[in-house]
Amino acid sequence: MSTVGDLERKHVLRSWAVQGKNTYEEIVKAEGCWFWNSEGKKYLDFSSQLININIGHQHPKIIAAIKEQADKICYVTPSFASEPRAKLAELIAKHTPGDLVKTLFTLGGAEANDNAIKIARAYTKRFKVISRYRSYHGATYGAISLTGDPRRPPVEPGIPGVVRVFEPYCYRCSFGQTYPGCGLECAEHVREVMLYEDPNSIAAFFVEPVTGTNGVFVPPKEYLPRIREICDEFGVLLVADEVMTGWGRTGKWFGVDNWNVVPDMMTMAKGVTQGYIPLGAVVVNQKISDYLDDNMLWCGLTYSGHPLACACGVATVNVYEEEKLIENSAAMGEILKKRLNDMKEKHPSIGDVRSIGLFAAIELVKDRDTKEPLAPWNGPDPGIMGQISKCLKEKGVYVYPRWNYLFLAPPIAINEEELKFGLDAIDECLDLADKAL
Ligand SMILES: Cc1ncc(COP(=O)(O)O)c(C=O)c1O
Repeated sequence: MSTVGDLERKHVLRSWAVQGKNTYEEIVKAEGCWFWNSEGKKYLDFSSQLININIGHQHPKIIAAIKEQADKICYVTPSFASEPRAKLAELIAKHTPGDLVKTLFTLGGAEANDNAIKIARAYTKRFKVISRYRSYHGATYGAISLTGDPRRPPVEPGIPGVVRVFEPYCYRCSFGQTYPGCGLECAEHVREVMLYEDPNSIAAFFVEPVTGTNGVFVPPKEYLPRIREICDEFGVLLVADEVMTGWGRTGKWFGVDNWNVVPDMMTMAKGVTQGYIPLGAVVVNQKISDYLDDNMLWCGLTYSGHPLACACGVATVNVYEEEKLIENSAAMGEILKKRLNDMKEKHPSIGDVRSIGLFAAIELVKDRDTKEPLAPWNGPDPGIMGQISKCLKEKGVYVYPRWNYLFLAPPIAINEEELKFGLDAIDECLDLADKAL
């Protein structure tokens, strides 16, 4: 008899991996903020799997809603109405800011961004889209073309018409500036690029309100409001990619709410169902919705607004409301922020800590003065990040590492005791990073 791991090794291609180097630890059980492997080892899920298990594992009300919908009706084509789809779209309109009013459902975040590109191009009759170099927008052809990070070049050429700009990464400012005396050059440079590209050719600017997998860059408070002004000046649509920042992750319903910015379109996935069933969405504002009342929407998916996924989404949003989880994310986020700042004082290997709500990154460096990363950007781990991950797992904490970053994003339902358990383990394991200096 093959074990599950052996079967996967033989028959499953895993994302973003050189297949021969994969490890195959089998996960068999999960509950709340915790999950267990097949040998009974228990882990605190300090990265919410792929920063998607926002509420926690196996929430009984959400499981019940999926089962109830499965008993009622599993599939309805998008050309008929269906109760869970209607209810979820209403809840999305309720919780997204401003006049974001109508939703196209997809199966995940990448498809949401692909469809947002199509809608932006059709609505504006312009074809260029702007994005940022340290962004990730998904792996389908449109979304990976939009993406700035190193997952894009290996699959180029992608779709034409994408122009990229630098982001607000204050710790390593691309313009050599220091906030707040920087004149917000990272935003003004977007305006300059738009002018050079001809604003009349630019349909949209895609922005992660807080850059996610490239390092949790929380922008200066003036950045997104200024970007909104620049987009308005040129009639460029602002599209907020809230796949990672949406649904409570940053201590607000959506990332943009931290700065009271209303985008023209929003894309989302992850937290809307937390991945219990895959679902993504593009939400458009009233003007775009009105346009689509009279013009063809050149987008479609067999599973758009799948009843099981939407029923799961309705139950998930109800739990966010009933259990006051957005408020919990903000409150626990304050504890997280304080503890991260304390750790920075203590560990010379920490170059920078960034956090908003329960969305945080620790950036490790060899030397605080030179800021040389402890493990290279887009390079192989010299071993130290692997050692830290191993140490954390031995202590029963799962944290997602990438390059010289550790991503801290536990379920937003986490309590103070669990948060402390995870942070204590991180604090202890960072001694390994200090010793490696
Ligand atoms: C900001 C952002 N956009 C889009 C995506 C792609 O979402 P999916 O993997 O559901 O296609 C991700 C995935 O991590 C993401 O973080």
